[in-house]
Amino acid sequence: MTPEMLYALRDQSGVPSHPVIFLILGVITFALHIAAVQVMLGAATLTLRGAFHADMKWRRLASAMLLTAKIAVSVAIVIGVAPLLFVQVVYDPFWYTSNVLSAWWVIGFILILIAGYISLYAFYWKNHDIVAHGGRNGYWLVLSLALLLTVGFIVHSLSNQMFYPERWIEWYAPGGQIDPSGQTLHQWHLSRFLFFIALSAPVIGAWLLAYRRYLQGAKETDVAYLDFVLNLALRLMVIGGVVSVLIGAAWMMTLPEKMQWFAGSVWMWLAVAALLAVVAMPLALRARLDRGVWGYAVFGAGAVALIVVGAAREVLRFVTLLGSHGYDAMDYRINMDWYSTVLFFVTFGVIGGTTLAYLLTVAWQAGQQKTGTYTPSALVNRIGQWSVGLLVAWTVAYFAIGFWVWAR
Ligand code: HEM
Repeated sequence: MTPEMLYALRDQSGVPSHPVIFLILGVITFALHIAAVQVMLGAATLTLRGAFHADMKWRRLASAMLLTAKIAVSVAIVIGVAPLLFVQVVYDPFWYTSNVLSAWWVIGFILILIAGYISLYAFYWKNHDIVAHGGRNGYWLVLSLALLLTVGFIVHSLSNQMFYPERWIEWYAPGGQIDPSGQTLHQWHLSRFLFFIALSAPVIGAWLLAYRRYLQGAKETDVAYLDFVLNLALRLMVIGGVVSVLIGAAWMMTLPEKMQWFAGSVWMWLAVAALLAVVAMPLALRARLDRGVWGYAVFGAGAVALIVVGAAREVLRFVTLLGSHGYDAMDYRINMDWYSTVLFFVTFGVIGGTTLAYLLTVAWQAGQQKTGTYTPSALVNRIGQWSVGLLVAWTVAYFAIGFWVWAR
């Protein structure tokens, strides 16, 4: 596949803002997506481990992690849409071809995701009183984890197939016979996939540190439970972090020839350093984890480390497609559309920021109050009213502009 053919597959109307904006947003939203995926997988696995345990501490943790997993799956799905939009804007010749070549799986992705989501809820419905009675059976949760991992594997495979334009024809017409069924996933890289999955262990470890700090803030009196959560969190972070880096090393050692430049590059070392720094952070903080916001800071630093990993992953893609296939994502024709660019950032920053600030504050403060009914302060109420007002204004502006364009 020549560079000219790849360029011919681009959207001829160009992109509505500079490509670098899409690349940066792609990295940030990918990091948020994968963080939510890792919290979801880690929390679901801890639920499976703890729900059937005789020890009440494990059962209490399983109950809390089940709630976490239920919310994290929604967050992972919602935030997954964002990198999907960005990757298809700047890499459309690669992304769409990869999708069409495995179209059956792309559609299957949605059905498998729905089944995985429902299975998680089925487990919840059947096991909503884990603390008192323990888990009844784990089939639904095992099924859910298997389905959600399959969904992740499909995305991983689609991302991987992008790297091989030289093999697309062979996949489309094996032996010269056209196969338009899209029933095959053609290319994957197991150690790369496992690297992102294994990171669930240190990520859920960092999450547990924040969970523990939150309980302390709510005047938790069960010291044994707090110690149990701390020990588990540290083990998950240290052992899980080292195992992830080793799997990452296996990924680097098995890179195909055209990507071997990445192994040992400054980007790879930056990602390794960021991950190891986060793993070492709770060991360095020790007693400070119980004070101020330090207990939360480890998860925050983990999110930053995931952005560094996401940036390195993007450099691997950008440089490989440029160096081996002559495709420069940065030279996409720009058809500047200020309205949609401004609308995007206002939606993301102002509306998203205000609404999330309100929801998180209410959930946070309500959870920290042990007795009585929680009543939000006048300021919190004001933020809530602003959130609703902004959402209404956004919806009106959305339809008004649509009608205006349509009527012109
Ligand atoms: C809920 C189960 C899911 C799991 C376990 C999962 C897992 C993963 C993993 C492991 C990757 C990294 C792949 C790689 O770089 O090799 C990834 C990337 C990605 N995922 Fe998910 N994912 C899930 C759901 C979703 C959903 C529902 C969406 C979209 C709505 C989505 C969109 C994406 C996108 C766009 C990327 C990056 C693609 C790219 O940059 O090439 N994921 N996901």
